[in-house]
Amino acid sequence: MSGTSRAGHADAAEAFDQLRRHLSPKLALTGNFAGRGAVEERAEGCRVTLSDGRTVLDFGSYAVTLLGHRHPAAVAAVRRQLDTMPTSTRSLANPVAARAAACLSGYLGDALPKVYFGLNGADVVEVAVKLARLATGRGRVLAVRGGFHGKSLGALALTHSPLYRVGLLGCLTDVVHLDPQDPQAVLREVAGGQVAAVVFEPVQGENGAVPLATEVLRQWCADAARHGTFVIADEIQCGLRRCGARSVALADGLPVDAVLFGKPLGGGVLPLSALLCTERMYAPLAADPFLHSATFGGHPLACAVLPEVLPAIEQLADHGRVLSGLLDGALDGLRERHPGVVREVRGRGLLRGIDFSSPQAAGWVVMELAGAGLLVSPCLGRPTTVRLLPPLVSTAADIARAAEILDTAIEVAERTVPAASAG
Ligand SMILES: Cc1ncc(COP(=O)(O)O)c(C=O)c1O
Repeated sequence: MSGTSRAGHADAAEAFDQLRRHLSPKLALTGNFAGRGAVEERAEGCRVTLSDGRTVLDFGSYAVTLLGHRHPAAVAAVRRQLDTMPTSTRSLANPVAARAAACLSGYLGDALPKVYFGLNGADVVEVAVKLARLATGRGRVLAVRGGFHGKSLGALALTHSPLYRVGLLGCLTDVVHLDPQDPQAVLREVAGGQVAAVVFEPVQGENGAVPLATEVLRQWCADAARHGTFVIADEIQCGLRRCGARSVALADGLPVDAVLFGKPLGGGVLPLSALLCTERMYAPLAADPFLHSATFGGHPLACAVLPEVLPAIEQLADHGRVLSGLLDGALDGLRERHPGVVREVRGRGLLRGIDFSSPQAAGWVVMELAGAGLLVSPCLGRPTTVRLLPPLVSTAADIARAAEILDTAIEVAERTVPAASAG
């Protein structure tokens, strides 16, 4: 195998051993399967090079690498900040976070002028729910069946999948999960009073790339507004042009009070998330900024990247539409070609889900794809679905190559996965 080095093998073996002993044996096992004994070593654009010298196409990374790996503008911004002031005193004013907040608000047309920066998606889900409860003085929150909003306790209360809630139900209070097909669901709940917020993903990511019906969301927004309930669009996965629009909710004309971004917001280089919201929702934090704060919130290294990331995403927006069209073509007929294992193909833009006949079939395909040179992401809320998340920097040739690998891997799965688990 070209580029294989003995040092690479030794490092990989040591990494798996350390993973097993100090992190999780399961992470070591799945990582070992996916990398065929090698570990990730370096990356650029939509390609990752492993310790055995192989290079794989990255259409996964859990939606973080929308701009690919090591986007030059993002890397340069980090380097500049590293050489000036990477850490904030948190007593003096931090101009880097201030500029990032102004850029982000401007990116959405200043409809949502107030900003809070976190590191992970769950951080801003937490603050959104906290603000909605404090600003309304109400306790109840509405989320959606199939929705995923993170795993910290506050965010987990909104996450629907029982996989992550088991054993913790007593801590996950005052959240009702709505039927996403019921336009009257919000009205029924708000009529009873005490509802602070309704939170939804316009396109559910971890549930397998499931777009929610815009007309249902429109009705929910109207009913929430009439009852003083805040509407929060969690676009941590589907926003920032992953599904075409800067904000899916705002592009669909939904009058939301808050939009949440994360994952690719730090350019795929640093962890960064953000809540954008109205003055009314932000009022408790405007009155007391220490009501919700974190040592590394608004970190200069991550915030320095943001003003570079947004124009980079915009520059690629038209190309993203072309890639989306190519994906339509590549995935067209997949179900008909593989009726034994493929049940459905879903999604929008550069967020696509292929639903298989069983979790075993899906898991098998993920591993087969990785071995054949294509990284994809499984779905945290729906183990039968495999997600394709091509970066905006991928090319028509990358999509064609991915489609080819996909077809072959599914063909092998059809022959290999035992009939019982193939459904
Ligand atoms: C829509 C959505 N919200 C929130 C989160 C939680 O983000 P994080 O894992 O960064 O905390 C995720 C993560 O997948 C997500 O997809």
